[in-house]
Amino acid sequence: VGQTPSPTLPVEVLVEIFRYLTPPDLCYCAQVSHTWNAAAFAPSLWSSLYPVQWARGIWVPYNVGLCGVLEEEAGRGLGVGQAKWDEDADVDESEQQPDPLITREYELFHSLVTWVLPRVGCGVTTLVVDAGQGITSRLLHHALRLCPSLTTLAAAHTRIDSYAFKGVWSSRGLSRLRNLDLQGCQLVDDSALVYLARCGPSLPVCPIPYLSAGAGQHQCICWNGVTDNTHHNRHSQSRHHTHNSTHSLKYVQNEKPLKCSMYHYQNESTSETDIEEIHCESAKNFVAQNIVEVNSHWEKRAHHIPEYFNNNGKFKKDYHHHQHNNCNMKLHNSSLAEEYSKMCKLTKQMNTTGTAGLCGTNCHSVDGQFRMTQDTLRYSGLQLGTLSLSGCWRVTDFGLGALARAGAVSGLTSLDVSGCYRLSGRGLGALAAACPTLHPENLWYCDNIDNGPYPLQANGCANLANPIRVCCRSGR
Ligand code: FES
Repeated sequence: VGQTPSPTLPVEVLVEIFRYLTPPDLCYCAQVSHTWNAAAFAPSLWSSLYPVQWARGIWVPYNVGLCGVLEEEAGRGLGVGQAKWDEDADVDESEQQPDPLITREYELFHSLVTWVLPRVGCGVTTLVVDAGQGITSRLLHHALRLCPSLTTLAAAHTRIDSYAFKGVWSSRGLSRLRNLDLQGCQLVDDSALVYLARCGPSLPVCPIPYLSAGAGQHQCICWNGVTDNTHHNRHSQSRHHTHNSTHSLKYVQNEKPLKCSMYHYQNESTSETDIEEIHCESAKNFVAQNIVEVNSHWEKRAHHIPEYFNNNGKFKKDYHHHQHNNCNMKLHNSSLAEEYSKMCKLTKQMNTTGTAGLCGTNCHSVDGQFRMTQDTLRYSGLQLGTLSLSGCWRVTDFGLGALARAGAVSGLTSLDVSGCYRLSGRGLGALAAACPTLHPENLWYCDNIDNGPYPLQANGCANLANPIRVCCRSGR
């Protein structure tokens, strides 16, 4: 770096020169003068971020593959993987000294998020935090909100959970994401996929209205201000229009929605520990049955719904009784419940105004799905090309179904869900059907899943010999 800054060089020239510098050099340059500062923080100089590598002193401008190194070391039993991968949460570690490398990762990423990304975030297209044990969900969450142009996110083998993606859609974050690698992130669950789905081209449909409107003896669905019979919003509920048919619903046009009525569903008494199991199974079935009919008319789906109700029109099981606006169920997973509640609030707003401010734009509902108006068509939304959830064993059909319903996987060319042993063959089949560009040889899933798609062409579980990622056959 020069000793005396040239006052004559324009910023554009300085930027071209600065392309040959590493991030710490850029930070030194930024302290020279205002002009140099502006050049050093040109967004184009910060298009690819590798904070975990940087914390190790590796300043090369490409991904060196730290998670591969981590797996290799763990496979050789060198202890590095175990040292970084402390899964024994029961052990009191208050006496242990924090790993200096983890601390360095955290501090470097924290500095990036606090000082650098607010200035250059719009230019960031690649963020790689593979194997970063100092990367927290909260920091990644902030980073994602500051990087709306991100196309590649690699967070393999980190401890991030679903919070990292929560609410990112509201700032249009991840709308350009094409490659997502979360392999080995054992804390990632369906909530993360639901959050990601909300960044998709179309919002996923909230299952609550399905269930609340589908049973016999319940109120019909009304849509305010619609002139076409096929256009309706099933979220608006009127106490004044009831009928008892399970398979047909009455749509009322040009009528203001009345106050949403509360439904009271009784769930069979079941212990708290059973709820999650039941919910997962039910949600899995629900998605499997509905995912292939994303754009179909409401009545076409209705025949699936009675499975969730007993003869009295009450929930057979699955959900706690819960009231929130016009939502009457409580999902065991609180973050999912919260997300759906928000969605219902949004639809309630739509019922009132006909439009809703979504991502600062106008949306309307067509055929029960949220669709973008012309204003929002420019906002393409999340459409993934490659997705790796290998070893994310908490993921179920429910989460993947949310992505599919949002149109976020319609352009998928590679999908690795090996190690996700909670998925079902039926759910995977429905997902594959929603991904026309997905070639069978680019699909990986658990060997123990029966009736999965492309049984002769798809790949088996890639985790079988992997020392870190979860696999049902390796006993983890
Ligand atoms: Fe079932 Fe790997 S998760 S074979």
